[in-house]
Amino acid sequence: VTAQPHAYRGSLLHFTDDPTRDPAAQHYLDDGLLIIADGKVVGAKPFAEASAAELALPRTDYRGKLLLPGFIDTHIHFPQTEMVAAYGEQLLEWLNTYTFPTERKFADPDYAARRASFFIDELLRNGTTTALVFATVHPASVDALFAAADAKRMRLIAGKVLMDRNAPDYLTDTAESGYRQSQALIAKWHHHNRLLYAVTPRFAPTSSPDQLAAAGKLFHETPELYLHTHLSENQNEIAWVKSLFPEREGYLDVYDHYGLTGPRAVFAHGIHLEAKEQQTLADSGSAVAFCPTSNLFLGSGLFRLHPLKTAGVRVGLGTDIGAGTSFSLLQTLNEGYKVQQLQGEKLSAAEGLYQATLGGARALYLEDKLGNFLPGKEADFVVLDWAATPLQQLRQENSRDLADRLFALMMLGDERNVAATYVDGRQVFGPAPR
Ligand code: GUN
Ligand code: ZN
Repeated sequence: VTAQPHAYRGSLLHFTDDPTRDPAAQHYLDDGLLIIADGKVVGAKPFAEASAAELALPRTDYRGKLLLPGFIDTHIHFPQTEMVAAYGEQLLEWLNTYTFPTERKFADPDYAARRASFFIDELLRNGTTTALVFATVHPASVDALFAAADAKRMRLIAGKVLMDRNAPDYLTDTAESGYRQSQALIAKWHHHNRLLYAVTPRFAPTSSPDQLAAAGKLFHETPELYLHTHLSENQNEIAWVKSLFPEREGYLDVYDHYGLTGPRAVFAHGIHLEAKEQQTLADSGSAVAFCPTSNLFLGSGLFRLHPLKTAGVRVGLGTDIGAGTSFSLLQTLNEGYKVQQLQGEKLSAAEGLYQATLGGARALYLEDKLGNFLPGKEADFVVLDWAATPLQQLRQENSRDLADRLFALMMLGDERNVAATYVDGRQVFGPAPR
C-alpha cells in the first residue's frame, strides 16, 4: 500500500556535511515544508516555493517549532536505566557495586520486557530515534529490547553482552555459549525490519582470549553486523587491560588483534588514546562514541573531540545511560560543550547538532538512510519547542541570531523541548498536532 504523502510546516534544520568543514552544509529554513511519503523523505523546501500539488497535501502545522532529523545515540545501556545517578564510584567500583547487581535482574524475561518498553519510550520522549544499545548477557533481554523497538518501527542496533570472566558467575556466559546465543539472535533479529545486530563484548577485561576470538568470528561471518564495546575510559581499566594482555601493544591492539576493529565497530569513550591508537581507529574506519555526561559523572576524563576528528576518526555522541546522567542528546551536548571548554576548545550548536544527527549516522555507517532531510532518507524526525520554560523563553527573546538561538537551545534544552517525535513517518511521541 502506498500511503498518501504528508507535509509538515515549520522551521527546518539539517546538515549535509560537517559544518566545521563546510559552513554551507548547515541548512536552515525559517518557514519550511518537509514532505514525507511511505516512511521516506520526499523533500524539504521553503514553504514559499511549494507547488500547488504540494500545498494540496494534508499538512501538519508546526509553525513556531523546529524540525530536526531524529537524534542518534551511539552508546547506551538499556538495563542501566533504573540505576542512573548511582553515587560515589569510578568505573571499576561502579560496575561491581551497582551495575552487575542491576543487570542480574534481567535474567527474568518479564522484567526485561517491562524495562525495555520504558527504555524505548524514554528514547522517543527525548527525540532519540536510533540508538546503539547494550543489553545484558541474557538473550531474553535482547529479545525484549528488539521487540519493543520493532513495535515502534525503529532503526535500532543492539546485542547480547559477551562476558566470560572477571564478572559475577550469575552474569557470565562462555566463549562457546556466547557465540551460539549470539548466532541465534543474529538469525532472529539482524535486518528484521529496521533492526540491526551488534556483537557486544562488554570490554577486554571481561572476555577471555577465546571469547574475543569468537566475537571476531561472529563479527565477520555475517554482513553488516556491528561490533560494540568500551575502550580506554579509565586509567585503572587501561592498566588492568595491559596486565591481562601483556603480549599486546596496548588496549586497542587487543581488539585489533581479534579482528574487532573496522567499519561498524563502535568503541565507547576512547578518552585516553595514544597517537597510534587514534591512527588505527581512523585507518580501520572504526568509530568512537563521545559520552560527556558519563565521562564527567564517573570522573573518567576529557574526550579529545577535535584531535580525534582531525585524525579522521568517526565520532558519534552517546548518552551512556546509566553512567551518563541524561537520555537527552541536548543535555549531552550541553556537557560536551563544557568538556571542550575545559580543554580550550569550542563546540558550536552547528557542530553539536550535526554530531547528534548526520555525524551519528556516519559513525554508524547509516548516512545513506539517516541523518538529514535529503530525498530518500528514512523519515525519523523530532519537533522541538525553542523554549520550554520561562527562562528559556526569556533567553530566546534576547537572542542575537540563529547561531545564538540554537546554542541556547542546545545548552538549556532537554526532553521538555521535545514536542513530538516521528519514526518511519509516524508520530510515536507527543500530543496529536492540529
Ligand atoms: N566498561 C565496561 N562496562 C561498562 C559499562 O557498563 N559502562 C561504562 N561506562 N563503561 C563500561
Ligand atoms: Zn557504556
